[in-house]
Amino acid sequence: MVNAMMAMLEPLIRQITTLADELDSTCKNDAERLLHAAAVYMRSCGSEQPELERLIPDLGSMLRCEGTTGKAARQRAGAYYTPPMLVGFILDHTLDLWLAENPDCEPTVLDPSCGTGRFLLAAGRRLVRRHISRTGESESAAWRHVGPLLLGLDSDQIATAWLAGRIQSLAGGDHAAATGIRTTDALGEEGIRNCRADIVVGNPPFGSPLKQASDAEAARRAMKALGGRVGPYTDLAAIFLGHARAAVNDGGFLAMVQPLSVLASRDADQVRAALLETCTPTAAWASGKRIFDADVFTCAVVFKKGPSPRECHVSRFRDLPAHACGSATIGTGDRSWSPLATAAMGFPDVPEFQDAGTIGDIAEATADFRDQYYGLKQAIIECGTSLEDGVAPVVTTGVLDSARCYWGDRPIRLFGQLWNRPGIVISSLDTSMQEWATARLVPKLMLPTQTRTLEPVLDLDGRWLPSVPIISITARRLSDLPRIAAVLACPLISLLALHRCLGTARSPKAIKLSASDVLSLPTPADEAAWEAGARAFVLAQQTQDQAERDACLLQCSEHMLTAYRVEHGAIESG
Ligand SMILES: C[S@@+](CC[C@H](N)C(=O)[O-])C[C@H]1O[C@@H](n2cnc3c(N)ncnc32)[C@H](O)[C@@H]1O
Repeated sequence: MVNAMMAMLEPLIRQITTLADELDSTCKNDAERLLHAAAVYMRSCGSEQPELERLIPDLGSMLRCEGTTGKAARQRAGAYYTPPMLVGFILDHTLDLWLAENPDCEPTVLDPSCGTGRFLLAAGRRLVRRHISRTGESESAAWRHVGPLLLGLDSDQIATAWLAGRIQSLAGGDHAAATGIRTTDALGEEGIRNCRADIVVGNPPFGSPLKQASDAEAARRAMKALGGRVGPYTDLAAIFLGHARAAVNDGGFLAMVQPLSVLASRDADQVRAALLETCTPTAAWASGKRIFDADVFTCAVVFKKGPSPRECHVSRFRDLPAHACGSATIGTGDRSWSPLATAAMGFPDVPEFQDAGTIGDIAEATADFRDQYYGLKQAIIECGTSLEDGVAPVVTTGVLDSARCYWGDRPIRLFGQLWNRPGIVISSLDTSMQEWATARLVPKLMLPTQTRTLEPVLDLDGRWLPSVPIISITARRLSDLPRIAAVLACPLISLLALHRCLGTARSPKAIKLSASDVLSLPTPADEAAWEAGARAFVLAQQTQDQAERDACLLQCSEHMLTAYRVEHGAIESG
């Protein structure tokens, strides 16, 4: 790749003086001039858009002398261009609706991370077709008219130079058609904050702003501008979305591609709340497939600018080509917007149920952190067939299934090593870890996170030490532990948990709960059926026979669905 790039750059460098006329006079130094010239050169070579997009991150990083190419450069720039079908879906639900509602007007369209202009060129083509059908003008005259309505920002000057050149050439060489395309940091002073448009669309860069110093700085500025509404772990894409809402004119539309986690992550909840203050969500798209060449699942929410009702009914769509999959209701008090994407991930809606309180009414829950994980390292040993006094077996999520701990039967990976029977010598822990171990070696319920369904395991003797990320649940009354186990083993509660946290776990179909999320889960209304469920769970945990355990767990589920007064068969896995 590097050789190919060099071969491409050599004639470019030779041509740079002859291209000087075309260079943007705002270029500050040779590297910038070279970047800009590269864009002009590629345009003059007639590079196709997809090929050019593939080269842009490499070219950018080569000229910045970073030595990163291919995947790394693309990742750094967040340059994952949007599939045309998703662009089309978003324009159908924003631009086309706006045009239907405002038949005599023409909208301005802003993409604050426009790249090579997949959204803007597609929007431009729709507006050009409309203009031609109304005026009968030529295509280039129509582009001269429509070009200034297209507003694009991007920090990558090769991308913006190419896009500006493309609009200019579609408009028959008219520079004025592309004046809306600017190279700038969209989160900076000259960025989104300075823009207004009827339609704001795009696919902003994803990721933690803390990864790179420059982005962290941009994020800090962005946080300030959003009135402290984002935290240090808020995804960059959510920060773009939070800013973009202010750029939309009343009655206009906003839609941006986002990582799925934005629907439920705690770090984005202020952004979600801010959006509902001034906009109404109208449609949402998500996919259980990886749409981009990146390790991330995506969604897009469409908003209409204007006061939001207390409850917004949002049409849901899945996959590409997008097809409808019902609707979901989002209220101003809702902490999570996961229901917008659950159907796209193949999960049914949560059926009606009757509750009588929450787990937090009868229990406490604690999640441990990396300090507790690494604190065990100095005290771990491989145990023999019998456990010595002062040694506690340590368990990980890998050896916990519903109502069963496989410690000693399955190997456990800890600290980069496989152990058959790992134990912790309590006296070898430092003082604070000894206190921690004493607090954990009590009757409790262990609940692994990042699983597809909730899989609680009872530890009534308080003999197992849970390793991160297992949540430990203790009850004020010992007899409540099996009851809480039955609640967590109920399929309704796993489904509810998914509807509250979808997209925040490592896998899009897994459940990641915090200790406070566990405490907020509902307990059932029917006490007698709840007791029967708890008894079935205890039997499941007591038996050594897998088939018998499965039968007990099934009975537990049935009693618990009765306890929540949910129709049996109402929860079918999608
Ligand atoms: C995922 S690409 C999307 C490009 C285009 N909108 C599309 O959908 O095909 C993200 C774009 O964001 C740009 N970008 C990254 N950080 C930016 C910033 N702070 N301001 C403006 N653009 C930025 C990258 O250069 C890249 O072109």
